[in-house]
Amino acid sequence: MNTILIASGKGGTGKTTLSAVLSMALAERGRRVLAVDGDCGLRSLDLALGMSDRLVFSFADVAAGTVSLSRAAVPHPLNEKLSLLTAPADIPFLRVKQLRALREAAAAESYDYLIWDGPAGLPGELSLYSAIAGRSIIVTTTETACIRSAERTARYLEEAGLHNVHLVVNRIRPALVRHGLAGNIDDVMDQAGLPLLGIIPEDEDIIACSNNGKSLLHFKKDGAALAARNIARRLEGESVPAMRW
Ligand SMILES: Nc1ncnc2c1ncn2[C@@H]1O[C@H](COP(=O)(O)OP(=O)(O)O)[C@@H](O)[C@H]1O
Ligand SMILES: [Mg+2]
Repeated sequence: MNTILIASGKGGTGKTTLSAVLSMALAERGRRVLAVDGDCGLRSLDLALGMSDRLVFSFADVAAGTVSLSRAAVPHPLNEKLSLLTAPADIPFLRVKQLRALREAAAAESYDYLIWDGPAGLPGELSLYSAIAGRSIIVTTTETACIRSAERTARYLEEAGLHNVHLVVNRIRPALVRHGLAGNIDDVMDQAGLPLLGIIPEDEDIIACSNNGKSLLHFKKDGAALAARNIARRLEGESVPAMRW
């Protein structure tokens, strides 16, 4: 099972959005995916997946052993390959041992991917989550402050022993890139010091879908949905050329 921590330095870069669309893109490929909302107290992955009214138990309940994973994980109404474990309303006191037990339970239930939607900021719960992840994807925009925080987060994760770290650059505005007014992707990679896994364009349908309880990948094929499918293919070892506009 692949355990992937979706992280960033600054908040609002698109971690939850990426967690949702990537989880659905992997499920579309037939993989069993457990998406976990790791943003305790500020959960929003349920909204990004269009599943807000269906959740009772959180990942903390499963980690603490109060409820089984099969009872707490809620299947997505449009794709049963994808299940969601939501975040608790408060910040729980958890040990690495308990999160490892959760990961083992997911592996025992034949999940192929554990996609862990992380919180913003350092170190917080990130140190706990990084202890169970096999790799991390750091999400940044092309804003300098955001790239700098991505670089710091990557260094932090590497010091914590997580070396398989890639970058996704989100909210790219094609018109600005064409006219040389937005940061060049190569420069973003250089500044963050990380290899690129993918880029996601600015896509207003993300907000429309989230506000209306819809899954983006069931709604459209191009834009951020295509970007997510490309990232899923690369994660699975396919060589997919960068998006063009
Ligand atoms: N590519 C994008 N295009 C348009 N809006 C986006 C995009 N990515 C994220 N957003 C919006 O930006 C806001 C923050 O995204 P979110 O995924 O919640 O960030 P984070 O989880 O890192 O805090 C949300 O309102 C989301 O809908
Ligand atoms: Mg989030």
